[in-house]
Amino acid sequence: MFMKLNHTARLESPTSSLAVIAPYFEGDLDSIRLVLGDVDHLAEAEARKELSGGLYKVSVFRGTPNLFLTGLGKPKDLDSVRYLRAVASGARAASRSGFEDFAIIVGSSIDDSLAVRAAVAGVILGTYDEALLKTGERRTYRVNAITVVGGHASQQILNHAAVVAESANYARLLLDLPPADLTPTIFANKLTVMANEVGLACTVLGESEIAKLGMGAILGVAKGSAEPPRVIDLRYGDDDAKVKLALVGKGLTFDAGGLSIKTGEGMEWMKADMGGAAAVSGAMRAIGTLKPEGISVRGIIGSTENMLGPSAMKPGDVLRTMNGKTIEVLNTDAEGRLVLADVLSYAVSTGATHIVDMATLTGAMAVALGHEAAGIMGRPDEWIDTVVRASDRGIERMWAMPVYPEHRKAMDSSIADMKNTGGRPGGALKAAAMLAEFVGDVPWAHVDIAGTAWDQNKTAYSGPGGTGYGVSSLVELALSLGT
Ligand code: BES
Ligand code: MN
Ligand code: ZN
Repeated sequence: MFMKLNHTARLESPTSSLAVIAPYFEGDLDSIRLVLGDVDHLAEAEARKELSGGLYKVSVFRGTPNLFLTGLGKPKDLDSVRYLRAVASGARAASRSGFEDFAIIVGSSIDDSLAVRAAVAGVILGTYDEALLKTGERRTYRVNAITVVGGHASQQILNHAAVVAESANYARLLLDLPPADLTPTIFANKLTVMANEVGLACTVLGESEIAKLGMGAILGVAKGSAEPPRVIDLRYGDDDAKVKLALVGKGLTFDAGGLSIKTGEGMEWMKADMGGAAAVSGAMRAIGTLKPEGISVRGIIGSTENMLGPSAMKPGDVLRTMNGKTIEVLNTDAEGRLVLADVLSYAVSTGATHIVDMATLTGAMAVALGHEAAGIMGRPDEWIDTVVRASDRGIERMWAMPVYPEHRKAMDSSIADMKNTGGRPGGALKAAAMLAEFVGDVPWAHVDIAGTAWDQNKTAYSGPGGTGYGVSSLVELALSLGT
């Protein structure tokens, strides 16, 4: 990280190269005046009624200081997620006008430590450039310095927030890469390089090692593809640490659905079906950089394509997983749970004491919660609570969903231990009930990020593409389990 991170109580003498991002509520500019004093153009604009404070609405006033007022909407609706997005909206506008130095006026609207972190993260996430492969006159959006004005912040908090947000942008980059540029092999190579850079151990299992371990479900999914699968095992910390956290990610670099083929529209974003793996990758990058003590963390990724080649698995095929259980494949598009069955079994075999998996697993979860929250399932309740609290600190939304024995019952097969689909109603919960067969007695949380991993819509705070969802929550979780 090369950017400068500063904290100051008041903005002393802003220069003409500084973009001042000032979040404010509808109809309330006083909070900004408190910090900035009476800025001429504020009074002017207020008189002209240009300042609504509507959510994520950015109003720009060039001069010294250069003001990017950004709307927080109504006070009663504000939470840390909205606050971060408001800052990101201002930063996106500022960086697209060429600014590289940012100051954020932090008011007292949300919890102090969250606001400071949201401010830093907002700038870094807001300046992300999704136009990876555009040619012609290209501008690079840089962050040279971030100054947090107001609130309470140590250098360590600023640094932490920046590392996590940059790691979320790393995850977004992985999500946004075209499928030809991120095959399982390329993914594994990239993570090997990243692991080297931040001091993680990294083992990549190829096809024969995957076969040797008995991971018949991953192999079954990979059979339809010309690209060989990979299992990527990133490791941080001491093997004899008391807490051994395993972060498990679904890494489908493209999901065509297999023989149970998707529609054209349903396939448009399936390069991003490795959102869980991207979140795990980003989290491991941040953990390797921040080096928390008293914990071991493993990032385990199952990566393959789901294609329709001549050798593709067929509906009716039965796959044997690493823990010995058999799965009847009725719908080849329910492939994520097949991949997870093997990597979860692998996580258990490494002696993990706690497991979290993240996966773009079901359209049903995206329908249930939209882009607003990920659904979390698993057991025991205390472990789910721990992960949800980590997501609060991570400024991401998770919502706990129930899994009943009836959901597991729906997955019963007449020929094998289970089948891979159990009908549309409650589809996300039935998938979770199936995954539970592969985690033994280890505390386990399954986070379905099908709705949150990417957004195809452009917003004020982001272009279409990967969101980096999950990185921050996983890092907060790992840090909270350390000593
Ligand atoms: N990768 C998809 C889930 C998905 C769908 C994520 C839309 C994001 C947006 C997954 O592999 C899948 O295809 N799931 C099926 C399962 C069904 C066949 C039981 C689904 O949700 O339709
Ligand atoms: Mn699928
Ligand atoms: Zn999928």
